[in-house]
Amino acid sequence: MTETAITRRRIVLDCDTGLDDTLTLIFLSGRPDVELVAVGTVHGNVSAVQGALNSAAVLKTLGRTDVPVTVGARHPLAQPVQYSAKVHGSDGLGEIPIDREVRVRTDISAAEQLVRLARQHPGELEIIATGPLTNIALALMIEPELPNLIAGIAVMGGAVTVPGNNTPWAESNIKHDPEAASLVFSAGWRRCVLAGLDVTLTTWLRSADLAAIDALTTPAGRLAQQIIGKFSAYFSVTYGRQSCPIHDPTAAILLLHPEYGEYGRWSVQVELAPGLTRGATLADRRPFVANKPAPPHPPIEVATRLDLDRLLECFVAGIRAAGTAPAQQGQQGQQGQQMEKEVSGD
Ligand code: RIB
Ligand code: CA
Repeated sequence: MTETAITRRRIVLDCDTGLDDTLTLIFLSGRPDVELVAVGTVHGNVSAVQGALNSAAVLKTLGRTDVPVTVGARHPLAQPVQYSAKVHGSDGLGEIPIDREVRVRTDISAAEQLVRLARQHPGELEIIATGPLTNIALALMIEPELPNLIAGIAVMGGAVTVPGNNTPWAESNIKHDPEAASLVFSAGWRRCVLAGLDVTLTTWLRSADLAAIDALTTPAGRLAQQIIGKFSAYFSVTYGRQSCPIHDPTAAILLLHPEYGEYGRWSVQVELAPGLTRGATLADRRPFVANKPAPPHPPIEVATRLDLDRLLECFVAGIRAAGTAPAQQGQQGQQGQQMEKEVSGD
């Protein structure tokens, strides 16, 4: 039987590993059509170093120590750093027991790692950003041609047509670094998909999804069960629902399956002024058919609706398959020789 070669999407994940970032790592590790080239971490749910140690511990649990994890920006571009321990726990993983004998890279930054990879593989890589956008903004400052070197980017962030979550007006990833988000949204990417609360707050795992994941006996499945349990504990109090939305995995899924969403093509601006609405994400959605002012910068694809059945089934299938995809041969990872300066886990 002839094997049909799968064209693997080459992805760099930039994250603030936390609970739903972890679900994204599990999901991506289960996709035979994804090569997780590298992970970079950023301040947000936890510190950038803690996020890196968390990412490396999750990848080790998944049998993916081939994937390099690099620490990124420790703080935002223009405001003090804030963390979200109330949602993700003090360690970012809900204090679940996990093997933390891991190493992460600090010899280069996540932004430098992204620029280096983009220059090495022009036009091939895609970015999934599930934390504040500081690393992406820094990479744009290091390499202004980055949007032409990257095939596409999917961002979990923003709240264009709905309330925020960090404040009534601002979503957490954007609120944690509004200046970075403004730079990223105006950069003119070949393709930029924004998975904001507009859609991610509809992605509550259904009882059938929870049951399917609870039935798994793989290390990845057991990890997903614990993570979903911790994430749901927060939402059961705050939203009164015994489930959780899959904010971050939604960005990954829409990058891989754009057909699972509907989009508004809008230029998204970020409120930078100090005050109540700082970090709000704004778009000119007036349905003018003429005389509409030119947008301030190239529009991006703002997800406005989802095919929830297909999206959630895709997520569960990825969790079910996780931990089985082969390691990328030759990839320098946690055991890589390039480790010059490391930070180790407990
Ligand atoms: O608003 C949700 C986002 O903030 C998610 O990325 C979550 O991990 C937190 O970073
Ligand atoms: Ca996140």
